[in-house]
Amino acid sequence: MLLPNAENAKSNSKPCVEACFYGFGSLKGMTVLLTGGAGYIGSHVTRLLQNRGEKVVVVDDLSEGIRSRIGDAELVQVDLSSKEAVSLLCETFKTHKVTSVVHLAARKKVGESVERPEWYEEQNVGGMKNLLAAMKLSGVNRLVFSSSAATYGVPDVDQVDEDFDCKPINPYGQTKLDGEHLAQAAAKDWGLREVSLRYFNVAGTGWPELMDTQAANLVPIVFQSLAKNVSPRVFGNDFPTEDGTCVRDYVHVLDLAEAHLAAIDYLDRDERPYDVFNVGTGVGSSVLDVIREISSVSGTEIVPVIEPRRPGDPASLNANVNRIKKVFGWSAKHDLHDIISSVWKAQSL
Ligand code: WQD
Repeated sequence: MLLPNAENAKSNSKPCVEACFYGFGSLKGMTVLLTGGAGYIGSHVTRLLQNRGEKVVVVDDLSEGIRSRIGDAELVQVDLSSKEAVSLLCETFKTHKVTSVVHLAARKKVGESVERPEWYEEQNVGGMKNLLAAMKLSGVNRLVFSSSAATYGVPDVDQVDEDFDCKPINPYGQTKLDGEHLAQAAAKDWGLREVSLRYFNVAGTGWPELMDTQAANLVPIVFQSLAKNVSPRVFGNDFPTEDGTCVRDYVHVLDLAEAHLAAIDYLDRDERPYDVFNVGTGVGSSVLDVIREISSVSGTEIVPVIEPRRPGDPASLNANVNRIKKVFGWSAKHDLHDIISSVWKAQSL
């Protein structure tokens, strides 16, 4: 990973024709900076913003992001947890006249967070602190923060709403809750206007080239098992659910990306200085439901292997999505079949 420096940031900037293009391209005159904008979810947000004519600047350390995903968006390669991050971000805000920030860059592997809690703190909380410091110094006061359903921990309700008392059970979820609290403190201290989006289980793809390339979650893992002709593993079938396997709220990445654009637009209005929204469908699907859907879409019988439970898996984690529908007018347009079909089609190309 390149260490950040001013030259590196400048080397990514383009000649003045760039400014001309962006001047023409930014129909709304807004410049949105996306941290993690070259990632699986981030690149979907980047593309939707570009498609609606907004200028996008991507900050990504490319440790997991892929440059080719962001098209002609400006890229500033920096590790947000580094000591140079604040000055580089301030320079980027100024150069590109950034008006709002979407903060997606984070480490997000639950298991890895258990093994490396200090690194997750450095990366996720340290990165958030540097970003907020740069925004305060630069007078950039609009932020959409990528949070997670992992902040809830193991809720004892079937559908969890945003007022639930969050008790994360792993360092990943804790870093996301800490991030929310840092943003809310900034809102109270210096007028940041902020929205935290608690993602449920994101899957699918809006475009084949933006597919999730890391088999770190159930849907890509089962597709990978299918490709390798091996049986996928089901972690526990003795949960108190209809078929004994864990139930989750799977939301299409395109729907999630649309929720980010709705959040950016919401920050233009003078409502509360900060708020938290679940982003899900409100519909639960079990592990076996997902495997059955992949079997059906692919036309291949998949026989999973049942293994013991994973530590820390809640039996059921589904979103109450009343608030985002009421305030943003947003609701998911895609269901589990659409999610699975989008991956199958992308893989079959
Ligand atoms: C889903 C279900 C597993 C793999 C993650 C992370 C985080 C967050 C939400 C954004 C669980 C089961 C999995 C396998 C299985 N997203 N499973 N066999 O743990 O619900 O949460 O998504 O912040 O990324 O917290 O997602 O996809 O790992 O698991 O049986 O090979 O599938 O036990 O019940 P999870 P997951």
